[in-house]
Amino acid sequence: MSPKDIARCVELEQVLFPDDDPWTEVSFRSELAGPHNRYLVARTETGRTVGYCGVALLGTDAHPEAEIHTIGVDPACHRAGIGTLLLLAMLAAAGERGGPVFLEVRTDNAAAIAMYERHGFHIIGLRKNYYQPSGADAYTMRRPALTGSIVSEVLA
Ligand SMILES: CC(C)(COP(=O)(O)OP(=O)(O)OC[C@H]1O[C@@H](n2cnc3c(N)ncnc32)[C@H](O)[C@@H]1OP(=O)(O)O)[C@@H](O)C(=O)NCCC(=O)NCCS
Repeated sequence: MSPKDIARCVELEQVLFPDDDPWTEVSFRSELAGPHNRYLVARTETGRTVGYCGVALLGTDAHPEAEIHTIGVDPACHRAGIGTLLLLAMLAAAGERGGPVFLEVRTDNAAAIAMYERHGFHIIGLRKNYYQPSGADAYTMRRPALTGSIVSEVLA
């Protein structure tokens, strides 16, 4: 993701997260400026941006961890594997340092939860009223650190 992608990502946010304070241009600029954040977009062959995601690489060299901050795909392109590609790209970035990966997801977001579970995430906690202004609850999910051959497979 570069600054020129932000307007389109703001447009997608408003469609994808209408009830939960969708990110603004300021939010995306701040996230892009974070030195430990990795932001990516998915584009069609014609150059249209149809998805975006971001992960923060946190912790220390001895105890690294990562936190997925966002992921979204244009509803016109759902269920075509784009979300999976974005998620795998974030897991690959996290895998370069190692450590567990965390995220929050609305408890009623069955589609996203299914995708995360397919990629090794497990629910480890519940955060009441996490999303605003909807007041929706969130699960915290965690994917354990990968080791050995599993890392090679994810990065391949
Ligand atoms: C979650 C999201 C990013 C998935 O993107 P996508 O491109 O449709 O995902 P994929 O096509 O790669 O699907 C991956 C898996 O997710 C699950 N999934 C996706 N959509 C689903 C749905 N409507 N119902 C049930 N499972 C679903 C399935 O397990 C799917 O694998 P399968 O198609 O082989 O069964 C997309 O639905 C989205 O943008 N949702 C709104 C934003 C959002 O909720 N982001 C997550 C915030 S935590």
